[in-house]
Amino acid sequence: MTRSVSGGTEPAPARIALSGVSKGFRHGAGEIETLALKDFSLSVPAGEFVSILGPSGCGKTSVLRLVDGLVSPDSGSVLVGGQPPKPGPDMGFVFQGFRLIPWATAQDNVAFALTATGLDQQQRADRAAHYLELVGLKGFARAYPGELSGGMKQRVALARAFASEPATLLMDEPFTSVDAQTRELMQTELLKLWARRRATVLFVTHSVDEAIMLADRVVLMSPRPGRVIEEITVGLPHPRWEYDVHTNPRFIELRAYLWAAIRNLVLNDPSSDFYAAPGSRHLA
Ligand SMILES: Nc1ncnc2c1ncn2[C@@H]1O[C@H](COP(=O)(O)OP(=O)(O)O)[C@@H](O)[C@H]1O
Ligand SMILES: [Mg+2]
Repeated sequence: MTRSVSGGTEPAPARIALSGVSKGFRHGAGEIETLALKDFSLSVPAGEFVSILGPSGCGKTSVLRLVDGLVSPDSGSVLVGGQPPKPGPDMGFVFQGFRLIPWATAQDNVAFALTATGLDQQQRADRAAHYLELVGLKGFARAYPGELSGGMKQRVALARAFASEPATLLMDEPFTSVDAQTRELMQTELLKLWARRRATVLFVTHSVDEAIMLADRVVLMSPRPGRVIEEITVGLPHPRWEYDVHTNPRFIELRAYLWAAIRNLVLNDPSSDFYAAPGSRHLA
C-alpha cells in the first residue's frame, strides 16, 4: 500500500514511493496519446527486492524511467529517498543491452561509472577490480567488450551497476538477451551481490520464474494503462542459491498462480493479440 509521505508524522519514508502516478506519451505532433500508466502506486522500503511483472507494453519500463527521474509523471508523485528523483551515483541501472563502452576495457567500463562518486582514481580502480572479481571476471579486467561473451558482458554490466554501491538499483529485463543457462547463473550472481550489499531493487521482467526466484515481493501489473493489480510476498528462504528454488512447493504454488493471473489478463485484454483466444474466460 502506498501512502503519501508528506504528512510529516510518518516514520522514515519508503525508499521508493510512487503514488497515484499517471503518464501518457504523445506520438509525433498528433493528438494521439498512449496512456502508459494510470493511477500506479507502489511503495518499496529500503533494502527490499521487488520484481515488477506484467505483459509486454504495460508500462514496466515507464515505471523505471519515472523512478530514475528521466521522465516526470503527468499526475501523482514519485519520491526516492523522500525526494524527487535525480540520476546520480546513488542510482544504478542494468538494461537488457549491456550498454558497455566498446573502446574501454572491462575494468574501465566499471571505473568510468564511478567518476561522480568522489573516489580518487586509485580508489576507483580498486573498487572496479573488486566488483569484477565478485562477478568472476578477475582475469578479464583488461579485455574489451568485443572480446567477451554475452554472459561476460552482462557480468561487467552487473559489476558496473553495483560498483557505485547505489542505494537504489533499477533493472530492466537485464537477462533476456543471454542464453537460458547463463541467465540462471546471472540470477545467482545477482542474488549473491544483493546479499552482500543490500540495495533497494526494482527488477522488471516478464518471466514469472525469474520474478519469483529473485524477489521478496512480486508486483503484478495490468495491461496498459498499467497499474498495480496485485502484490505478493514471495516468502522463499534465503540464500536461494543453496537449494533448488524451482522444486520448492512455495515456488510451484506461486508460479501456477501468477501464470494463471497473467494468462487471464492477456486473454481478457481487448488490445492483446490473444484476446478471447481459446481457453479465455472472456465472456463476450
Ligand atoms: N517515449 C515514448 N514515446 C511514445 N510512447 C511510449 C514511450 N515510452 C513508452 N511508450 C508507450 O507506452 C507504453 C508502455 O511502454 P513501456 O513502459 O515501455 O512498457 P513495457 O516496458 O511494459 O513493455 C507502450 O505502449 C509504449 O509504446
Ligand atoms: Mg520494457
